[in-house]
Amino acid sequence: MKIIKCDHYDDMSKKAAQVIISDMKEKKDIVLGLATGSTPIGLYKELIKANQEKQISFKDVMTFNLDEYIGISQKHPESYYQFMMRHLFNHVDIDQKNINLPNNDASSIDKHIKAYNDKMKKHPIDVQVLGIGANGHIGFNEPGTPFDNETFIVDLDEDTRIANQRFFDSLDEVPKKAITMGIKNIMRSKKIILLASGIHKAEAIKKMIEGPITTEHPASILQLHPNVEVFVDEEAGSMI
Ligand code: F6R
Repeated sequence: MKIIKCDHYDDMSKKAAQVIISDMKEKKDIVLGLATGSTPIGLYKELIKANQEKQISFKDVMTFNLDEYIGISQKHPESYYQFMMRHLFNHVDIDQKNINLPNNDASSIDKHIKAYNDKMKKHPIDVQVLGIGANGHIGFNEPGTPFDNETFIVDLDEDTRIANQRFFDSLDEVPKKAITMGIKNIMRSKKIILLASGIHKAEAIKKMIEGPITTEHPASILQLHPNVEVFVDEEAGSMI
């Protein structure tokens, strides 16, 4: 794992964006794996800026998102579909047909999940962007999830629901389930860019890098991936 210690959130976002921008320049039809949450918002701003300045184009780019809630519709403002539209896709020249997210409105979720896995096998992810939960989750692979899962339906941990309550009016409104890429999908990506910001992520980062590889800390599996770049701000990197 390559660790890049950054001064603050903006520095982290810029440095991680530089890696993706350079990969996008090299491979116009790059396949990107994308994350939601607070952490990558600054990175997406940098990608939007680079697109508007015509440094990069999304015309031939394909994307796969890590996860999506079950129990709210894609139209709900806090669905990850809407999040991605708001924070990235509405502002870049991406072709709508190249955008892939797990679809919580699919008539048969099981069939949809199979199709999602098949499509990712056909279009392997070149660069996967990840955040990390304070509990060590990546995607919504919560502690205890087997490492050999492909996309599946997960019961969200109470900790995760509490962490995400900030986006909803109350804890009751936070969905209890989600569709998430499994660790197996994530580990197949050719490169992984993981970002973490804030003191509440410091312990999760330390365990990911220095701890035993265990399903109790899902991100620890990344120690076995040959091409991971970890961008941390000062607080998230304070224990390593
Ligand atoms: C989001 C995702 C999650 C988040 C993680 C951190 O698509 O898969 O693993 O990356 O929960 O969230 P933030 O960035 O909000 O702290």
